[in-house]
Amino acid sequence: MKTTADGLRLHYEVEGDGPPVLLVHGYPLSSRLWAPTVERLKGEYRFIVPDLRGMGESEPSGPVPLRRFAADLAAVLKAAGEKRPAVVVGLSMGGYISFEFYRRYRKRVRALALVDTRAQPDAPDAAEHRRETAARVLHEGSAGVAQGMVGQLLAPSAPESLREEWRAIMAATPPRGVATALLAMADRPDARPLLRRLARPVLVVVGSEDAVTPPGDARRMAEAARDARLVVVPGAGHLTPVERPDEFAAALRDFLRSLPPEG
Ligand code: MLT
Repeated sequence: MKTTADGLRLHYEVEGDGPPVLLVHGYPLSSRLWAPTVERLKGEYRFIVPDLRGMGESEPSGPVPLRRFAADLAAVLKAAGEKRPAVVVGLSMGGYISFEFYRRYRKRVRALALVDTRAQPDAPDAAEHRRETAARVLHEGSAGVAQGMVGQLLAPSAPESLREEWRAIMAATPPRGVATALLAMADRPDARPLLRRLARPVLVVVGSEDAVTPPGDARRMAEAARDARLVVVPGAGHLTPVERPDEFAAALRDFLRSLPPEG
């Protein structure tokens, strides 16, 4: 399905029936990340699954702050006709956006699941590196970034076919999509104060082999939140929902079933 937000065409899927769950992918990925989760749980929940601006089938824009990505999510929920508070599930950059979504639209959030992500902002040198990469991608295209990232994203034991699938998805991301995401992440706010006062149930999931946002980051988030559970998925890297789809879906299902009734 398509909607227009902020003058851009945004693509999203809606599947299943039940309480709403918004699935927010990471950088520079696509809604395909959630296909195994939706397949396993769509009998119980209504999944709303956007492609972030400039990724998947959604149109790219020039540089915008992370809060505009959060505003896109609000537009997608509206287009999907979803008025109930949703459980927001964000992986990596999707987690950074989920924090912003809570900051701005907290009445729309029933609970949060933070997957292979972190709450702290970039160190100054990491932020600078992102800005340099953004400038380079606009000249050289996305293939180099895809090649550089693919080795880090998946656990060493991941099958070659999965590695190739995600390398191709990243390489197909338009350079403007990659650059805009990098610049937004480089300037993202510190989410730790928000996490400490977050008045919602929180699930934190991390792959035991996540080299991008390692288990230590996840533990610190789970300790900081008032009401959090932590699940470490053995053998998964940074893309737990596709590397260990059964374990991930089971962790999410347990969390969703544990939530107090809606309303
Ligand atoms: C992601 O998976 O969204 C990114 O790797 C996050 C990041 O670079 O901080």
